[in-house]
Amino acid sequence: MLTNPILTEASAQFAADVRRGLTQVGQKELPSKYLYDALGSRLFEAICELDEYALTRADERLLRGNAREMVARIPGPMVVAELGSGNGRKARWILEAVSRNRPTSYYPIEISPTALAMCRRELADIEAVSVVGFEREYLDGLLEVASRRQPGRRILVLFLGSTIGNFDRPADVHFLREVRRILQPGDALLLGTDLEKPIDQLIRAYDDPLGITAAFNLNLLARINRELDADFIIEQFEHEARFNFDTRSIEMHIRSTRDQIVTVGGAGMSAPILENETIWTESCHKYTVDEVTAMAATADFYCDAQWVDDQWPFAESLLVAE
Ligand code: TRP
Repeated sequence: MLTNPILTEASAQFAADVRRGLTQVGQKELPSKYLYDALGSRLFEAICELDEYALTRADERLLRGNAREMVARIPGPMVVAELGSGNGRKARWILEAVSRNRPTSYYPIEISPTALAMCRRELADIEAVSVVGFEREYLDGLLEVASRRQPGRRILVLFLGSTIGNFDRPADVHFLREVRRILQPGDALLLGTDLEKPIDQLIRAYDDPLGITAAFNLNLLARINRELDADFIIEQFEHEARFNFDTRSIEMHIRSTRDQIVTVGGAGMSAPILENETIWTESCHKYTVDEVTAMAATADFYCDAQWVDDQWPFAESLLVAE
């Protein structure tokens, strides 16, 4: 029988993560990286179109308006790597600016094959840019990029969309340190961070009236049903977004509306879930600009410049490896 070892390995990992997250004592959890299957990636695209989720548009406005200046601050030839490229739309402005001077390579690093395919299509028309995607975890992918470095080229790493905020504090700084360890002095990291703003505005961004975010979050259970032979009854769960004042983060949960038992055949487990018990799927931490600068310094980067959107508080920080 022919088996695909990569697929098998990935679904074994998925099964192990689901088993651990649903059977652990205390708060149940599911890792947010599994939100982005084919349907999840498309639902996330729809989230980015929502009036309430203005974060992506702020990120894009800053990149579109300042890409040339951002790139001009990094001297000499460079390659561009992106941690979590999504559909590739945000990288466009940077890539157009970089490739004005000379042809360049762009390395999107993505665990979602759907996103990687969208990204390749999106950027196919920029002739001076060759796109080489890596279906990898962030740091593994970045190691690959670094190992292909030609002498004299800098690496510009894009980490946009405030994905850094999905790490807990201080795991966010730890992650920046890991990135820094792979880079060399003079390499740069363009970091997007969503900034603190009124709580009601944040809650609406993560619990929109059309229910797209709810569908996105609940799709994780549907995915477990599809891929791991589970029996979640989706109607018996609901999406919940709450603000955690201690961690200054929005927390995404899936709440059970009744006592129930779920079985995940592909993970060889069953677990009781109580009425009102939640499964935590993601936290999105919010920052201040000074906090970003301080985090960068702790990770041996200096903050060369910062741009803040005037409609939706969001910052782009250009961090240079010391
Ligand atoms: N991680 C992204 C964020 O912090 C994406 C996101 C938007 C998200 N809405 C969500 C993740 C709902 C989980 C659930 O904004």
